[in-house]
Amino acid sequence: MAEKRENWGSKLGLILAMAGNAVGLGNFWRYPYQAAKNGGGAFMVPYFAALILLGIPLMLVEWNQGRYGGKYGHGTLGPMVYLQAREGVNPRVARILGGLAGALALGVTVLLNSYYNHIIGWTLGYAFESATGGYMDKSVSTGAYFVNYIQSPSKVLVFWLIALAVLGFAVMRGIQKGIEAWAKFMMPTIYIFGIILIIRTLTLGAPVKPEWTPIAGLDFIWSPRWQDLNWQAALAAAGQIFFTLSLGMGIIQNYASYLKPDDDIVLSGFATISLNELAEVVLGGTIAIPIAYTFLGPEGLGAGVGLSFIALPNIFRQMAGGQIFGTFWFLLLYFAGFTSAIAMYNYLVALLEEEAGVPRKVGSVAVFVIYIIFGLPVALEPILTKTADLAYLTELDNWVGSYLLVVLGLLEVMVTGWLMGAKGLEEINKGGYWKISKTFYSVFIQAVTPITIIILLFFSTKDYIK
Ligand code: PHE
Repeated sequence: MAEKRENWGSKLGLILAMAGNAVGLGNFWRYPYQAAKNGGGAFMVPYFAALILLGIPLMLVEWNQGRYGGKYGHGTLGPMVYLQAREGVNPRVARILGGLAGALALGVTVLLNSYYNHIIGWTLGYAFESATGGYMDKSVSTGAYFVNYIQSPSKVLVFWLIALAVLGFAVMRGIQKGIEAWAKFMMPTIYIFGIILIIRTLTLGAPVKPEWTPIAGLDFIWSPRWQDLNWQAALAAAGQIFFTLSLGMGIIQNYASYLKPDDDIVLSGFATISLNELAEVVLGGTIAIPIAYTFLGPEGLGAGVGLSFIALPNIFRQMAGGQIFGTFWFLLLYFAGFTSAIAMYNYLVALLEEEAGVPRKVGSVAVFVIYIIFGLPVALEPILTKTADLAYLTELDNWVGSYLLVVLGLLEVMVTGWLMGAKGLEEINKGGYWKISKTFYSVFIQAVTPITIIILLFFSTKDYIK
């Protein structure tokens, strides 16, 4: 166990770091196309339902698990689940649950980062490409440019390694001087860049066709298409809530483990969620889709990776000041990805530090090496196979990025809600500026949240099998 665990330096630093943990690539490249694909404004119904039924209760459960584990010197999920489960079942069963949670969280973190860090490398590379005018030459399509980018080792590997090295360096410096300091700089910058980009988006006019205005683009993402609302869309909404709030991974717990035993949970948890939703629904929803719409219309909205790295560059090179706005966009993505990846990086370092006695510096280098080993298949896939469909990356994202998170979320809520029982409520409310009621606890955390997750898992498992 570590000698003296660090704490957060200030309340503001804590909230910005937690918001940084949550605000990530999920908000800016995943959310817009999920909403556009799953019913536009109609997606908001399952989305906000999932936020209330799953997101808020789980966020509170995770903060409580983290603070609880931190009290005993543990910042990772295995020991935390064990400590809480022990309150309700015999130690042997608690140990099995802890082992399961720890192993799942470790697997998810390593696998998710094998592609997440890689995309962060692209955002850094594309920020550089934007600033230096790389894709401005109109004789090459931005699609071909992207394929060329992910297939050239000198670009893709270099920016990936730089991104990883900066992360490692930041984590090495610890909680206050590392994570907190970077969050204090990057988080406000994300919101400032976001607002600048929104203003630019809304003043684009209609450069291609009179009916393709930014407002029509907003209308496209916001007006409900009820016919597209189905079971799949509900699953996508729930998956998005887990992904965007960083739930079901152990990284919220890890940050919460650096709280002091009486630090508030409920208000801080709500502040984290609010900052994330502001970045997702307002910034994420108002930039990418409307920009793409003004130039490409409703048919041209590529999904996922294509939207950020192909459709938008194609627009930046046509619009006035595109080089600058392109740089802002990719830096925004980079900062968002960085402040999430640093949480996952710290999770692994804390695991080595606390459960294996490895010093932080050595641990940070070890994680760097682990990330390279697991990330190489993702990095090399387009280079070696000379394809660009990113099949391996997509498969990983399907399994790890949504399904496994939900499984782990279920285990977490059952441990606090069911095994700790009434003590779980006490634990959440301890020291809080705000408190949750007994009714909220028994209705949501003990019933609605776990049952909803079980139903979701049932249907998505059926989907995966077929
Ligand atoms: N929440 C972050 C995002 O939106 C990071 C993250 C992704 C965390 C996936 C967990 C799982 O990108």
